[in-house]
Amino acid sequence: MAFRYLSAGESHGPALTVVVEGVPAGLPLDEDLLAADLARRQLKAGAGGRMDIETDRAAILAGVMAGRTTGAPIALSIPNRDHAAWKGRAVPAYTVARPGHADLAACVKYGFDDIRPALERSSARETACRVAVGAIARAFLGRFGISAASYVAALGAVPEAAVPLREALAFAGRSPNRAPSQAQEDAYANAIHLARAKGETLGGLIVCVVDGLPVGLGSYVTPGRRLDARLGAAVLSVNAIKGVAFADAFANAALEGSACHDPIVLGGDGRIGRPSDRAGGLEGGITTGQPLVVRAAMKPIPTTLAPQRSVDLATHEAAQTAYERSDTCPVPRACVVLESVLLIELAAALTEKLGGDTLDEMLARYALLPTADDVRLSPAPKVFWP
Ligand SMILES: Cc1cc2nc3c(=O)[nH]c(=O)nc-3n(C[C@H](O)[C@H](O)[C@H](O)COP(=O)(O)O)c2cc1C
Repeated sequence: MAFRYLSAGESHGPALTVVVEGVPAGLPLDEDLLAADLARRQLKAGAGGRMDIETDRAAILAGVMAGRTTGAPIALSIPNRDHAAWKGRAVPAYTVARPGHADLAACVKYGFDDIRPALERSSARETACRVAVGAIARAFLGRFGISAASYVAALGAVPEAAVPLREALAFAGRSPNRAPSQAQEDAYANAIHLARAKGETLGGLIVCVVDGLPVGLGSYVTPGRRLDARLGAAVLSVNAIKGVAFADAFANAALEGSACHDPIVLGGDGRIGRPSDRAGGLEGGITTGQPLVVRAAMKPIPTTLAPQRSVDLATHEAAQTAYERSDTCPVPRACVVLESVLLIELAAALTEKLGGDTLDEMLARYALLPTADDVRLSPAPKVFWP
């Protein structure tokens, strides 16, 4: 299977480890390339103290020789710099479950009387693995002219503003909170400042856009082929992401059909075009060749400085949650995580479409695929059922 990965590692253990399978041979890859995306996951704005000590770097342990992938599984190791502070220390018991985290259900499920083993793995520290694998997918898809970008469309109680998509993406690239405009950036910074002062956390809405996709990735029906299902599952696999939509799916639900769908128009040269992209790049489970637009809702993270009502699992007495260093609002940092999981799934779908063991043979096959501009009418009607 292409771009399949398995991660292991605890938040404060020695390192995170991830193995990626199904990357073709011949893709230039080095640790600096992975570091660029890992740095985006560590944006400082909205982050907590941990971001000051984490400067992630993934070591490539297997699957790359002389700067190129070999086609063999790629093994990456991302050391937890925080580990040094924990090594050899008796770790204090953590017994008050945080509402909104895996804590309570995990302790019941695995029979723990201390939450530590659950929170060490359920922590979003693991998303560093997704981002490292996503960087490989980004490098791979980049060879085919496919790229991803994202912005924070709404944060906490700051609502979405009407900013044209391309402007929003361009501004987010230079905005500390990945906002779509200066007005939104100021409002987000203020909201985070106020939340931090109250010991609160904030969620938000992220928009991811993937450009340059060919027509025809995915297929109509089964969950394993239908791209809506695969991409939706990938997005929902990210910690704290609770909702996903393709383009304005929830607003589109209120429209009449002819106002909702993207017209199919004929160009003078026999080509078929789409003047709009309200579908967000997917129809019938298949890419249309237009930009893929995915919206995701992230809940406010569970670890708040402000105490929350809970129960101490050791004493079975009512208790208030204790604070362990945590973010106020990781929504801007989650942007690169969402781009990564989408890119990984799209890299898998493209590999299924093209087949092949080497990047060069895939590029040669890709050159034969029709692009969105090449969609033409079939010359004559056919009889399908005798
Ligand atoms: C990039 C990122 C950073 C996060 N940082 C924190 C954090 O510092 N503290 C916290 O309590 N939760 C944090 N979370 C969220 C938790 O991992 C998540 O809420 C938890 O796994 C339970 O959410 P779930 O119900 O979606 O699994 C973060 C999530 C992401 C995507």
